Amino acid sequence: MPMKLKIVKDSNPIMKKKSLPVALPLSKEDKDTLDAMLDYLKLSQDDEYATKHNIRAGIGMAAIQIGLLKRMFVVYYGEGEDHVEYQLVNPKIIEYSIRKCALKDGEGCLSVDSEHPGYAHRYYKIKMAAYDALTDKDIVITARGFDAIVLQHEYDHLDGLFFYDRIDKNKPNQQLMNEELL
Ligand code: NI
Repeated sequence: MPMKLKIVKDSNPIMKKKSLPVALPLSKEDKDTLDAMLDYLKLSQDDEYATKHNIRAGIGMAAIQIGLLKRMFVVYYGEGEDHVEYQLVNPKIIEYSIRKCALKDGEGCLSVDSEHPGYAHRYYKIKMAAYDALTDKDIVITARGFDAIVLQHEYDHLDGLFFYDRIDKNKPNQQLMNEELL
C-alpha cells in the first residue's frame, strides 16, 4: 500500500514559506518521499480510487504540499509520447521567454479548494535545470505552453507562491499583449 499522504491546504501558513535546498546525493528518505508523491498523483488519476478515497486528481505536487520544506516536486500527466513524469530536486529556471501564456480556464491546485478565476500569467517557454530522481540524472528540460505552466506552478510552491498570486486582482481576465491563451 502507498504511503498515506495528507495534503496541506493554502490556509496553512507553512505554504507561504520558502522551501530549502535538498542535500545531494539524495537520501533514501527523500527518494521514498518522492516515490510516495508520484504514487499519489498516479492513484489520484484513477477515478475509482479517487472517488473511494475522496481525493482530487492532481498532475503535480510539491513537497511543501505534504508539509515538507524541501525544494522538490513531482509531475505526472499525459499518455504515450506526451507522457510527462519527473521527480525534480533543487530545480532552477535558467531561461525564460518574453512571450507569456495562461490557461483560459485557469489553473487548479491540490492545496486550493476555493475558486480563483482569472489568468495566471506564465512564461510561454522555460528551461529548467534540476536533478531528476526518477532517472538519477542532472537534466535540463525545455518546456513550452502547458508543460511550461505545470513546471512554473510547481516551482512557485517552492517559493511559497500560489497560482492566484499570478492573477492580476484588478484585471483578472485581461490577456497580456504577448500572451497566448491555452
Ligand atoms: Ni499547486
